Amino acid sequence: MAKIIFSTTDEEAVLDSNSSIQEACEDAGVPFACTEGICGTCVIEVDEGMENLSDYTQEEEDFLGEMGNERLACQCKIKNGTVKISF
Ligand code: FES
Repeated sequence: MAKIIFSTTDEEAVLDSNSSIQEACEDAGVPFACTEGICGTCVIEVDEGMENLSDYTQEEEDFLGEMGNERLACQCKIKNGTVKISF
């Protein structure tokens, strides 16, 4: 099991390990558009637990460029543990 904590709203979501975070983020109010890693609408900031997310996809590398604490919520999966994000 894995957990996402949304700093913005103080909401939490429990997810299966290695599952997409898109649905939980959508439920918490993160906006989505293309869902293919192209538009950047779903950019989130990872406050804690970046190591618990899947590796950057090619789409994320293309859109985000420099690897900071941003991810595209439509692209990443949560591996395990807890990830704290804001949007
Ligand atoms: S919804 Fe377009 S990049 Fe995620």
